[in-house]
Amino acid sequence: MNFQALAKKYDTPLYIYDFDYIKDRYKNLKTAFKARKSLICYALKANSNLSVIKTLAKEGAGADCVSIGEIKRALIAGIDPYKIIFSGVGKSDNEIKEALKLKILMVNVESEAELKRVEEIAKELNNAARISIRVNPNIDAKTHPYISTGLDENKFGVDIEVAKKLYLYAKNSKYLDPIGIHFHIGSQITTLKPFLEASKIIAQLVKNLIALEVDIKFFDIGGGLGIKYEDEKEIDLYEYAQGIFSTLKGLDLTILLEPGRFLVGNSGYFLTKVLYEKKNSSKRFIIVDGAMNDLLRPSLYDAFHKVSVVDEESSHSTLADVVGPICESGDFLAKDRILPKTKKGSLLVIHSVGAYGFSMSSNYNSRPKVAEIAIEDGIDRIIRKRESFEDLIRLEEECL
Ligand code: LLP
Repeated sequence: MNFQALAKKYDTPLYIYDFDYIKDRYKNLKTAFKARKSLICYALKANSNLSVIKTLAKEGAGADCVSIGEIKRALIAGIDPYKIIFSGVGKSDNEIKEALKLKILMVNVESEAELKRVEEIAKELNNAARISIRVNPNIDAKTHPYISTGLDENKFGVDIEVAKKLYLYAKNSKYLDPIGIHFHIGSQITTLKPFLEASKIIAQLVKNLIALEVDIKFFDIGGGLGIKYEDEKEIDLYEYAQGIFSTLKGLDLTILLEPGRFLVGNSGYFLTKVLYEKKNSSKRFIIVDGAMNDLLRPSLYDAFHKVSVVDEESSHSTLADVVGPICESGDFLAKDRILPKTKKGSLLVIHSVGAYGFSMSSNYNSRPKVAEIAIEDGIDRIIRKRESFEDLIRLEEECL
């Protein structure tokens, strides 16, 4: 990738995504599951740029959405409503109503109260709402506590006994059609065991439900596949698929997957330019034009992203922090890295930022959101324009 040329053409800071990589990842995952009926519902929250979604839609992907905004993005990008699922612990009445009207595949229900709300809204619309219930298998995904969701201390889903009760209630309701079951135990998971443990528990529940004449058709195994940021080892896709299949023996279900990070994480590069170098006592800082508002993961989770210097000139490398211009000590992109001496204008690449990078960015410190570009078949193109100052104040200016 010619980062110099891209910086010249589009300026910095800049998000760059390799679309060929995204397509390959999709195909690899789909192929691993080919022995069974499956639908890959891309988790839009990882990267909801319309061009990213459209690229996956063309490959046949569905969408896992957590707001009506994401559902609308999926539809605009060309994903069929019957491939869209709506998850999340706090859906508003309006969101539920709109989603039902749009006739999406199903609403993933996360509590008894929500199930009743969905039922009432479906009744108003004189329709039966297709639903699945998110079941919490109480499995430790052994990942960062902020992104672990499968333990009963987390706010997500309902436990097995409650799930059973809710399925029976739904089965007997004229306005609910329980067609799916769902679990998602966390994100950035790099061992197979927790996935298979969870799948086994939920598959057993499906067997019990089928015996009670609840007609489950979709087995939604969530997202969570980890990627390589530093020295992590990715789960083998074949073993993942075969492992899931082995828990589903005797069950004829369509497997739904909700990967986000797996598909897009390592497609992304964040390109940023050095403004200054400085030293405070013994500490070396490389101050760049990108900041925590552009890429929050290092500040929020202490997440590691590899940093490289484009066109390294100096061979003399020392420890440095890469920090942004925001007025917070927590504004860093990398800490204690061995990096060569840089000068004003040197380019730094922050790696593995395709997932939860731009989608978690903000306008903090009145910084316009950066541009996003795609590289596909060796050709670069803009997929989101850089925000301007006028964009930032538009909704306030008319209120003055
Ligand atoms: N499905 C559900 C219900 C989810 O909650 C999530 C992610 C996914 C699928 C996609 O998970 P993935 O395949 O990307 O692991 N901001 C954090 C990650 C938060 C994940 C939230 N839920 C980060 O930057 O690491």
